[in-house]
Amino acid sequence: MAKVLVVYHSMSGNTRQMAEAIAEGARSVSGTEVDVKAGLEATIEDLLECAGVALGSPDYFSDMAGGMKDFFDRTYYPAQDKVTGKPCVIFGSAGGPPTVVIESLRKMAETFKLQEAAEPVGASGTPTEDVLEECQELGRKLAEATQS
Ligand SMILES: Cc1cc2nc3c(=O)[nH]c(=O)nc-3n(C[C@H](O)[C@H](O)[C@H](O)COP(=O)(O)O)c2cc1C
Repeated sequence: MAKVLVVYHSMSGNTRQMAEAIAEGARSVSGTEVDVKAGLEATIEDLLECAGVALGSPDYFSDMAGGMKDFFDRTYYPAQDKVTGKPCVIFGSAGGPPTVVIESLRKMAETFKLQEAAEPVGASGTPTEDVLEECQELGRKLAEATQS
């Protein structure tokens, strides 16, 4: 079984809905096991053990949420050179356009030398059905990338 890890932060539930849709999409690919964790609880072991990772955050004050920053801060040194090329996907939510938070997560993916498996999905406010479908597709693509 290839493990997909979904790490996210969410205070009012918008990013959580996206994370759950990504998990659902990933689970639909046979041979995939999925773990969904908040940034504040995900560990370096979770990151090293997974075959692919989805990273999601709301935009709080024109940056990623502190919960995701905490995850990156704790895992950067122990993950160095151990996750190079690992497939990842990015998703973000904002009150306005989600551009800034997506760029901020992308910078982290680049810094960790993860390999983006698909274009990010972003939403403004509560995710619509269309956005949730895009998230499911993102999860499927990530799971497929872990098996190729
Ligand atoms: C503390 C805080 C700061 C925020 N700052 C921004 C911001 O700078 N730009 C923006 O577009 N939205 C901002 N928002 C709105 C959130 O990004 C938006 O409501 C998002 O969908 C919340 O996601 P969540 O439900 O997963 O917590 C902020 C919300 C909070 C609570």
